[in-house]
Amino acid sequence: MGSLTVTVRVPGSTSNLGPGFDTLGLAVRLYNTVSVRRIAGRGIELVAPLTEADRQRAQHMALEAARRFFRTVGHKPFGLEIRLDGEVPVGRGLGASATLRVGVVAGLNKLTRAGLSRQQWLELVTGLEGHPDNASPAIWGGFTVSSCVGRSVRCLRFRVSPRLKIVVLIPPFAINTEQARRLLPATVSRADAVLNLNRAALISAALATGQYTALRGMFQDRVHQPYRQRLIPCLWRVIRAGERAGALGGFLSGSGSSVICLTVQNAEAVARAMHRHLPEAQVKILTADNTGAVVVGKGSA
Ligand code: HSE
Repeated sequence: MGSLTVTVRVPGSTSNLGPGFDTLGLAVRLYNTVSVRRIAGRGIELVAPLTEADRQRAQHMALEAARRFFRTVGHKPFGLEIRLDGEVPVGRGLGASATLRVGVVAGLNKLTRAGLSRQQWLELVTGLEGHPDNASPAIWGGFTVSSCVGRSVRCLRFRVSPRLKIVVLIPPFAINTEQARRLLPATVSRADAVLNLNRAALISAALATGQYTALRGMFQDRVHQPYRQRLIPCLWRVIRAGERAGALGGFLSGSGSSVICLTVQNAEAVARAMHRHLPEAQVKILTADNTGAVVVGKGSA
């Protein structure tokens, strides 16, 4: 195998889309690249333009993903240098962890010629993430509806038109997903469960059929956002400002900290309106990625 390097490009993603907790996902045109190269020994060295604390966390994630890959395919583990680069910020609810895990698995799959299918990547990465809603769009691109079914993961994916603009407000602070999950109640009332089911089903139908205007007013959620709001107090103000400027609606991206509004009109005005409530944040107007993870390079170092 020498010092062959495989580079994989993986899109960032938003998940939940409001009521579709742990189920709905949408790949965005914001990319990370993950390069994997075999080195001597059995350890993993992660090189990335991150703070030392984030780099160490990412290195641990990459190590877990590599171990799981080797165990799954029955390959003897080897040492790896992994380079993580790109545009997906850490701890902002935009699927950075999924880009790394998918990149490691897809890169090792190519490097070892193990021949795992995308479905197998999905099952492997979902096992590491604990939920499939960022792994699915990172792997397949587009809008995804996914669920763990027994020991498998079922994912249906749909192309999303560039007409739909994804306006992302990225705060300067990170939110830790595990901590944000601990804020959630163990049970919810039937009324809350039914509201979320109704909305998530309607969002799925609207996005799957390209009827984007039917998304208006559909992002209400009673399962996670009300409990996470204290981590990002401007959440509702940002969403309401986006809606007043013409957005179809908005939601916390994954477990945060980013806030997203979807719109088919006035994207610039929506972005400006959202930004006004958190001027220290970054704002990006994106469209959906419909490609998912791709190997973009393979060569000797
Ligand atoms: N569905 C997960 C959550 C996504 O909301 O906790 C985390 O990125």
